[in-house]
Amino acid sequence: MCGIVGYIGKNKANEILINGLLKLEYRGYDSAGIAVIENNEIVCKKDKGRVRNLYNLEGINELESTIGIAHTRWATHGKPSMVNAHPHLDNHNTFAVVHNGIIENYHELREELIKKGYKFYSETDTEVIPNLVNYYYKEEKDLLKAVNKACKDLKGSYAIEVISKDEPDKIVVARKDSPMVIGVAGNDKYVASDIPAVLEYTRDFYLLADGEFVELTRDEIKFYDEDLNNIEKKIEKIEWSEKATSKEGYEDYMLKEIYEQPKSIRETIGSRLKENEKCQFDDIEIDKNYLQSINKIKIVACGTAMYAGLVAKNTFERLLKIDTEVDVASEFRYRDPLIDEKTLAIFISQSGETADTIAALKLAKHKKCKTIAVSNVIGSSITREAHYTIYTHAGPEIAVASTKAYTSQVVLLELLAIHFAEVLENNSEEIETLKDEILQLPKKVEEALKTGEEVKELANEIYAQKDVFFIGRGIDFTVTKEASLKLKEISYIHSDAYQAGELKHGPIALIENGITVIGIISDKKLVKKSVSNLQEVITRGANVIVVTDKDLSKYNFKKIIKVPETNKLLSPILTVIPMQLLAYYVSKAKGLDVDKPRNLAKSVTVE
Ligand code: F6R
Repeated sequence: MCGIVGYIGKNKANEILINGLLKLEYRGYDSAGIAVIENNEIVCKKDKGRVRNLYNLEGINELESTIGIAHTRWATHGKPSMVNAHPHLDNHNTFAVVHNGIIENYHELREELIKKGYKFYSETDTEVIPNLVNYYYKEEKDLLKAVNKACKDLKGSYAIEVISKDEPDKIVVARKDSPMVIGVAGNDKYVASDIPAVLEYTRDFYLLADGEFVELTRDEIKFYDEDLNNIEKKIEKIEWSEKATSKEGYEDYMLKEIYEQPKSIRETIGSRLKENEKCQFDDIEIDKNYLQSINKIKIVACGTAMYAGLVAKNTFERLLKIDTEVDVASEFRYRDPLIDEKTLAIFISQSGETADTIAALKLAKHKKCKTIAVSNVIGSSITREAHYTIYTHAGPEIAVASTKAYTSQVVLLELLAIHFAEVLENNSEEIETLKDEILQLPKKVEEALKTGEEVKELANEIYAQKDVFFIGRGIDFTVTKEASLKLKEISYIHSDAYQAGELKHGPIALIENGITVIGIISDKKLVKKSVSNLQEVITRGANVIVVTDKDLSKYNFKKIIKVPETNKLLSPILTVIPMQLLAYYVSKAKGLDVDKPRNLAKSVTVE
């Protein structure tokens, strides 16, 4: 949540900062601002609303400074407003700070500072930071030391950048539980909460770990631990291309990412699976003895990532015969879950920065579980916590609503389940069929994407509805959850997903004339059961749309959307495609901002 950019070098900072913020708008978009040092004074320009509004602020385009910090906000403390927007300055306009995360003890710190004579103008937790820095600078007379002391007072999470007019050629950066990277290109140095912000300038990045501090000057970068001892850090080459973070002619990132799925799935499969070979996972060392010793697999994640886990549970249980449970990270972490060294815990996070998922992983480690992170972002926080990390390699996902990351997560988990089955020597014909089918998935996803036009027509028919229901059984139910989330988050239509057999136990009371019910049907054994449930809602006036890989043309459904057939365990990867397209086109039909739905941000770094 919230995006940070910083720059020190030889070019005009304002252009680089705003350009970076525009690339980070998916992190937050209710207000934005920059601060630079011009003629030894801090100049701060900020406002509520989208990043592009910054261009209209008086004097912003004329700034000549070559050092600055910037922020795009997703409000936590205090409504979106000019005053609450970052950067925040201390009472003497000497220090400017941008901050991601939440300062949990800001109330106490604010009271303390008020007693010392400081005044506060915003409702944010962040405003305590520049004033604390001001307070400590009086004794330390050194920006890095003052920031370090201020950070020792902070409880909660933060990624911060600080500049000072008293040390005008320096940016100090600190992080704890909120991501931050430093990019370098010759003498130009960039700071960003997310790599895409500055990918057009460099591929060389230092990835900061918790408790680290950085001092950036025009000539050098120095890294420190939390006690300000010097530390060495290695540059990582980030392979994402800049093209991967542009829309490439698509109207929206979400549409581009939906259509990228054949490619992203190919990348996920990569060299892990080749025809007639065993599944390879070089990144984890889990042997037969260990797998025989465990009695539970826990998959923990949030939102769409958790729904990917729900799909994979079916494959883990079927191939490994090990009880596999899926949990929501924000519940898991506070429930004292029954896990121990006999539990293998898998954490899924596209961004690798989701606060609840990271906390859940730490808890699992504390309870002696072996942990695996499934992430899309190289070097993200979660990957540094887990015993092992496997990457989806789906490429950067910019739209807030997850699409290609979801299908890649499912594919990767399917491969992992197969790999474990092979390690356990649970060989079966089904495993060989699954492997063949996985290799065919990119082509089949291409076919499923051809439903685009008919789905668009359907979207134009249903976009004015108030409620849409999704139903399915077994593996199809897992897709209804994801389909329903996708629709509600970007179209703002209320929607719910139910196990088809559960309808009669309550929800069917909501079915009335003209309502849309979407059924997903791929499990051969359950076709008749699901069809009966759909007939029950038709009888009560519902318009039923079915997404299926079966021939159901003999039934009286209003519309049938056909996707290619595959193994039942993999069917969610195909049935979800028209559902992603439906959410997209409904949102477009309503004239909404598909990539930046209201109230949401791409990575949820606060709990
Ligand atoms: C929905 C969506 C979210 C994320 C969730 C977890 O489209 O994107 O539900 O899946 O916030 O995010 P990550 O995977 O980054 O941990």
